[in-house]
Amino acid sequence: MGKVTITNHPLIQHKLTLLRDKNTGSKEFRALVQEISMLMCYEATRDLPLQEVEIETPMSMAKTKVISGKTLAFVPILRAGMGMLGGVLELVPSAKVGHIGMYRDPETAKPVPYYCKLPSDISQREVIVLDPMLATGGSAVDAINQIKTYHPKSIKFMGIIAAPEGLEALTSAHPDVDVYCAALDERLDDHCYIIPGLGDAGDRIFGTK
Ligand code: PRP
Ligand code: URA
Repeated sequence: MGKVTITNHPLIQHKLTLLRDKNTGSKEFRALVQEISMLMCYEATRDLPLQEVEIETPMSMAKTKVISGKTLAFVPILRAGMGMLGGVLELVPSAKVGHIGMYRDPETAKPVPYYCKLPSDISQREVIVLDPMLATGGSAVDAINQIKTYHPKSIKFMGIIAAPEGLEALTSAHPDVDVYCAALDERLDDHCYIIPGLGDAGDRIFGTK
């Protein structure tokens, strides 16, 4: 089974509390999602491959390390995953970006795909899928199914809040995918929203409710 990491660093937990608060408005919410994503990206990229290079400092030659190869592609799941993109690109500005469009049918809570555009060299890259909410897990599982048809080198999933149901669905469907979340919450409600969660991430990021 893939590795599951709950990134419970104090800075992330503090920002997550502000994010969950219903009195936090869209401007602050967006900034917090980006900051948390940047901090989580540090953890999710811990095992990136390095190669040795030789450079000249002002003092001498030095053998030192750079990240090797084409490395990363970030794939946010629209819409809410877009809120995480700025934060991770701050850390890895050379990464390529793909997009997967998907929304949950309000009656069934099943994902409805509407868009997929991935970098042409994705088979040479490690993919990190971005979506702040892992509720039933349906969206993440379907998005990763789509991405796997392009055979990337590896896939990780980075979310902010997961429900136990979603984590179970994702790790069962994709045991090869490492999962990074900032919190594992209690449960889903009758409408498949995460409790206590933070409400509808897309609406809070984009101010659509
Ligand atoms: C939210 C969220 C995930 C999905 C999680 O998206 O951003 O993509 O729900 O739920 P699941 O794990 O049960 O699939 P939503 O469908 O609300 O679309 P939006 O981001 O466009 O608002
Ligand atoms: N999508 C959200 O944005 N929030 C939830 O709690 C569940 C799905």
